[in-house]
Amino acid sequence: MPPLIQWQDRYSVGVERIDRQHQELFRIVNRLAASITGQPSPATAAATMHEMCKYLDKHFQDEEQYLEKHPEFDRHNLAHLEFIEKTLDFQIRFADQAPDLHREMLAFLVEWLKTHILETDKLYFAYLKEHGLLDQ
Ligand SMILES: [Fe+2]
Repeated sequence: MPPLIQWQDRYSVGVERIDRQHQELFRIVNRLAASITGQPSPATAAATMHEMCKYLDKHFQDEEQYLEKHPEFDRHNLAHLEFIEKTLDFQIRFADQAPDLHREMLAFLVEWLKTHILETDKLYFAYLKEHGLLDQ
């Protein structure tokens, strides 16, 4: 099965540390996809979901250290909080052995990550860079 979400240069926010974390998130999501759509392995899928929630938490903390200098940081922070809430809810619902539900969750995760990086993260990092607010 080809990876569900693949890194491309267009996802780069221009900060290597954050790009690497986004790449790792893509890898985790692909592993999650494999455990959902491949051989049924509820335990692996649930463990990967747990790993993703933990990684997201750390990643958002790191990213927010850069972004707190942005005048509209609060809005970005809220988007992260809402996403965390949603993934935690998914994590709980993962116990339900419902393939359709899992696929729906996966589709949401992939779509959110792509859109958030391309349409929000990139704009925020570009602004910081433009205004000399980016510590590399
Ligand atoms: Fe973000």
